[in-house]
Amino acid sequence: MKQETVTIILPTYEEVDSLPFLIAAVAEIKKQDLPNLQLIIVDDNSDDGTEALIAETNSPWIRLIVRHHEKGLSTAVVRGLEEGESEFCIVKDADGSHPASAIPHMIDALTNGADFTVGSRYVQGGSTEDGWGVLRWINSKIATLMARPFTTVKDSMSGFLGLRRDTFLSAYNLDPVGYKIGLELIVKCGCKNVVEVPIHFRTRQLGESKLTLKVQWEYLQHVIRLLRYTHPKLVSFFTFAAVGVSGLGVYILALMVMPLIVSIWTAITWNFFWDRKYAFWYARSTTIFSQYLGFVLICSVGAVANYFITSWFVENAHSIPLAGFVGGLSASVIGIAFNFVFNKVLVFRK
Ligand code: GDD
Ligand code: MN
Repeated sequence: MKQETVTIILPTYEEVDSLPFLIAAVAEIKKQDLPNLQLIIVDDNSDDGTEALIAETNSPWIRLIVRHHEKGLSTAVVRGLEEGESEFCIVKDADGSHPASAIPHMIDALTNGADFTVGSRYVQGGSTEDGWGVLRWINSKIATLMARPFTTVKDSMSGFLGLRRDTFLSAYNLDPVGYKIGLELIVKCGCKNVVEVPIHFRTRQLGESKLTLKVQWEYLQHVIRLLRYTHPKLVSFFTFAAVGVSGLGVYILALMVMPLIVSIWTAITWNFFWDRKYAFWYARSTTIFSQYLGFVLICSVGAVANYFITSWFVENAHSIPLAGFVGGLSASVIGIAFNFVFNKVLVFRK
């Protein structure tokens, strides 16, 4: 028997069929290992009988929070973490995928010095039930790969996680979106020592997964947000470069239908809007007009080079797309560092 106080947080949406099994499994752990265990269910107004079910169990250690005005897995988890008053918190799915038997091992990891723990499919002893479609597997692998800049945790996508409540309270700038609250917590709580406890991930028996295309889109946004948080300068520069590449495409197309000067202006304007939005997202808002003016001025240095190189190629190589490509590209190569640095320092200040 362990004396630690532990709150299990169970985010649910339409899980009334799975809940009885889950509660039974957690109750068993409470009886065998962790007498001071509480359960907080954060339900997003499923309206499927969850409330009646919990009322019926009549167990003082189980608490149901129904959110009426908010939806989403991550914010539900955060809500549970805020409400839990125990020393330790464990978050797990309600659909039976995560074995309750791993909970005591996760608590052991935390009491032995880990500052974060996850139930992991990808360490020795962990596994995933067969029948995961190839697509879901590839999906999970790509998502995990995208998390590599932030953590070396093998199963960083796991929704089965544990941490001290104090660690959660130390989170800086928490910005929960989509499904990957574990990754968000590891990064924003600055967790270094993450211990992975092997689990067998079971396929959901009842109900349906809520992992939709929208959720995957949100994950992409989440990764970008995290990158901006951990590597702001790098993200700014690479976004600037990517916008530059798109601007080159716009320039070549424009050149095929418009005069040279207008094409240059079109490409600069195109770059301005995307750079303002994505490369210099943090810039404080001076008027867009003065930003535009500054941007055009700075870019005009490279634009002059572009003008001459493009016209030379139009006359001598007689190919407009080729001229646009060579002119635009050389202007970008000449201008990228210059344009980036001066726009960053003069136009898009923090
Ligand atoms: N409150 C609330 N609100 N709960 C939600 C919501 C929501 O909007 N969406 C999902 N949940 C709950 C579900 O009821 C379930 O208990 C848990 O969150 C996980 O949802 P699933 O729909 O079963 O997700 P999954 O199986 O596709 O994804 C799981 O595995 C992934 C790794 O493969 C989750 O654990 C993910 O976090 C994990 O990345
Ligand atoms: Mn699931």
